Amino acid sequence: MECVVTGTRTALERGYSDLPVPFGWFAVALAKDVANGEVVTMNYFGTEFVVWRGGDGEVRAVDPFCPHLGAHLGVNSDVVGNDLRCPYHHWSFNGDGGVTRIPYTEVIAPSMKQSCLPTWPIEEVDGVVWVWYHPNKAAPKWEVARIPDCPDGDWVLAMTRDWIVNIHCREIPENGQDYAHFGAVHGVPFAPKGEMKVEGWTRSNKVVAEMKTPKGLMTGKIETIATGPGQSIIEYIDVTHVVQAQQVTPIDSSTTHIRWQMYHIPGLTEGRLRVTQARMRDLEKQITQDIPIWNNKKLEARPLLVKGDGPILAYRENYQKFFDFEEGPEPKAGVA
Ligand code: FES
Ligand SMILES: [Fe+2]
Repeated sequence: MECVVTGTRTALERGYSDLPVPFGWFAVALAKDVANGEVVTMNYFGTEFVVWRGGDGEVRAVDPFCPHLGAHLGVNSDVVGNDLRCPYHHWSFNGDGGVTRIPYTEVIAPSMKQSCLPTWPIEEVDGVVWVWYHPNKAAPKWEVARIPDCPDGDWVLAMTRDWIVNIHCREIPENGQDYAHFGAVHGVPFAPKGEMKVEGWTRSNKVVAEMKTPKGLMTGKIETIATGPGQSIIEYIDVTHVVQAQQVTPIDSSTTHIRWQMYHIPGLTEGRLRVTQARMRDLEKQITQDIPIWNNKKLEARPLLVKGDGPILAYRENYQKFFDFEEGPEPKAGVA
């Protein structure tokens, strides 16, 4: 896995640790990075958990410490069949956190067989492993979104990237609402303005923008659907058709792991492939322009906003629901 940490960082306190880690589904690995029979200790959400893939190909996730005598289940453990075997006394656990085998006794209490090790909801969608995080262990409130159907066969996965940045994960999608930085940071001649629509746990932005091409100006569409705080799917439809699947995962409240998978439609001619690759390179250039700013900026809780700045406060207000850890009513819909 390539992972790039870029930019200098300031040593000053920047306020991000004042924000909590939001709840939601978050990407913790690409599916190919957890092989059959492999055990991986994950460090996200300011904590640790252990993921393994059983012989049946299914991934499972549990808390890291064995309830017997406290060994770390991510260190020198083994996958036996579909179960995880602790290195210390070889107790085996299934994906429900139940004990399936103790090599030196036949007597296992029914409650231990059911579950004695906390588990984490885990899913695999579109080649990404997702874990549901909630500080109070509340059950998942929505489903991981799938990338849209490809209009023309199967999407071609053209590029995967990931970066670790020193900033709270709320600020990564906020960048898309920050209209005024597009000109200054990315040198694009227009701000991709669009209506931000909130429905339940999803937020969508639809933008119709004039784009400069070698053949003159053309109209392009950029459609973003963000599902929860950790997942955005952005579709660019113009001379080319690209899907950018972006995941942001809090390592803690001031450090974020960003992942991208970029897809394009199949059967591109050489010319369209060149344009598509240029589009992907341009998007990659844009994030590398944002990263040094992210790594060094502070949390401006009361920003000095002016006309033209974009719906930053509406975005933050809407995001607040992912910090609401008490059980409450489902979120309302709205437009900004
Ligand atoms: S500590 Fe895990 S089996 Fe004993
Ligand atoms: Fe940006």
